[in-house]
Amino acid sequence: MRKAVISVKGLRESFKDKEVLKGVDFDVQQGEIFALLGSNGAGKTTTVNIISTLLKQDGGEASICGYDVQRDPDQVRQRISLTGQFAALDGMLTGRENLILIAKLRGVSNPAQVADNLLARFSLTEAADRRADDYSGGMKRRLDIAMSLIGTPPVIFLDEPTTGLDPEARIEVWNTIKELASGGTTILLTTQYLEEAEQLADRIAILHGGKIITTGTLTELKEMFPPAKVEYIEKQPTLEEIFLAIIGKKEEIVNEK
Ligand SMILES: Nc1ncnc2c1ncn2[C@@H]1O[C@H](COP(=O)(O)OP(=O)(O)O)[C@@H](O)[C@H]1O
Ligand SMILES: [Mg+2]
Repeated sequence: MRKAVISVKGLRESFKDKEVLKGVDFDVQQGEIFALLGSNGAGKTTTVNIISTLLKQDGGEASICGYDVQRDPDQVRQRISLTGQFAALDGMLTGRENLILIAKLRGVSNPAQVADNLLARFSLTEAADRRADDYSGGMKRRLDIAMSLIGTPPVIFLDEPTTGLDPEARIEVWNTIKELASGGTTILLTTQYLEEAEQLADRIAILHGGKIITTGTLTELKEMFPPAKVEYIEKQPTLEEIFLAIIGKKEEIVNEK
């Protein structure tokens, strides 16, 4: 069996009286795109903040490349990058300047070269010398992801990478993420968009009510759903229907108790 690059076991977190995570479990293998799918407020960012060492959990454990997030936070930080829901770039600087700044901060030996390579890879060469403030939403997000790749971390967390983007920009970012994973990077992304999980993820975990209620490939999730009904045309269930069916079922079970 392959060793998990991200391992999360029984993770619990409360804010005051509010129990947000009630024992979250999942593993992500090397090179996988793993989607943590959940509605607004489900606890996706809380989970990402814990496994990226920004927040201390109340219970359970998490490790990255075998390093415990609480006992070895420095080792963990060396292996990850985090792109949050809001872009971390400096709008006054150009795209190239943003990249060079981060490359210097991370102590990369050839910042200008690294910046040029990333600009080319993310189709930003033409816009390299324009201020980031003048970029479109999709370009800003691509630059943000490019910045997070400096120092080539093996594990990348993308917290709602396309929230707030228009459909065209969303597709640009999807292509970027697919390309990253094809290079062997392990990616954990959070999303509230079913279509995004369907498009990108090798495996999907549904976070609901403080727990992972289902994990599987899209095919596995589809198998859990009743077979397509034949009327005049055969219709495959969408991930949205599967999601609602799983959540609906879960609530029926809870209500029966
Ligand atoms: N620092 C905090 N203090 C109090 N409540 C918080 C804090 N961070 C998150 N929460 C609450 O925890 C729940 C989960 O939040 P979050 O992890 O941001 O969800 P998601 O990212 O899935 O939208 C929400 O109800 C949110 O209001
Ligand atoms: Mg969030």
